[in-house]
Amino acid sequence: MQRPPSTEQSQRDQLHGRQVAAMFGRIARWYDFLNHTLSLGLDIYWRWRLARVALPEPGGAVLDLAAGTLDVSLALIRQYPDIRVAAVDYTLPMLVRGKHKLTGGPDKRILPVQGDGRKLPLADESMDAATIAFGIRNIRPRMAAHREVLRCLKPGGRFCILEFGTGRRKVWGGLYNFYLESVLPALGRLVSGDRAAYRYLAETIREFPDERQLSRELMDAGYARVFHVAMLSGIVYLHVAEKAGQLCADADKEAGVKTQARAVSAGRDGILRCFTPQDPGKGPDEE
Ligand SMILES: C[S@@+](CC[C@H](N)C(=O)[O-])C[C@H]1O[C@@H](n2cnc3c(N)ncnc32)[C@H](O)[C@@H]1O
Repeated sequence: MQRPPSTEQSQRDQLHGRQVAAMFGRIARWYDFLNHTLSLGLDIYWRWRLARVALPEPGGAVLDLAAGTLDVSLALIRQYPDIRVAAVDYTLPMLVRGKHKLTGGPDKRILPVQGDGRKLPLADESMDAATIAFGIRNIRPRMAAHREVLRCLKPGGRFCILEFGTGRRKVWGGLYNFYLESVLPALGRLVSGDRAAYRYLAETIREFPDERQLSRELMDAGYARVFHVAMLSGIVYLHVAEKAGQLCADADKEAGVKTQARAVSAGRDGILRCFTPQDPGKGPDEE
């Protein structure tokens, strides 16, 4: 049984959320370029694999949490052109970059929403599946996001997580660890001019739980079945956590993208802002 976080801890978590949003706001314009370059393009394949295991019902709705510049949302639409995607992210500049990629074809079924993974603006049991790529590491406390996603999933729905393995384990005789600790922050700083952001990346990968711990965490959050697949010698993992029960065939599919936050507003950029009055969620660009 987990104790509720102290007020101090939740204030620290709120502050962390804002710092993370500010950081992604600063690097948003470099994000895609650095992603593809630093992973030698492998990230495109990893996101494709993530979308592949989501298995939404035809015509269903998928939550893409920490959607960033919408690459996972787009991978989902390419594989399941008739679904709708609620692309939720905390950082507006990331969503704005992503929105520029939308062409008005099948991708008009992607709805970018600025919101918090710890308080999702979605109805209970409204999503056929949920995905998160390289995002869960940034959310504190992780358990709040695990539980929120579980609440929004229909029975039998999958929460599919793409994330780096823990950086504490040596991979390729330590070559990968050297890349992570030294090469990646240096390259990140060189291109984006933001040393802190890429040091943060290495630190959060090192601190991230290994696949067994994460599985336990997901089971503790209430998922019925959890499994994972290692990719690239365990540098990256695909985790799948299933909610108990059968998919409700007659569930109201439209409920999926109806937002339930107390404060909802649409900006001129067409991106919904869904925050509670307690957490107005102002990004660095909106102060
Ligand atoms: C490394 S990026 C991943 C973006 C995208 N999923 C991808 O595959 O490229 C992490 C994202 O997590 C988002 N994020 C961090 N904390 C969040 C939270 N509490 N709720 C929603 N998104 C959050 C950040 O704004 C950022 O866009």
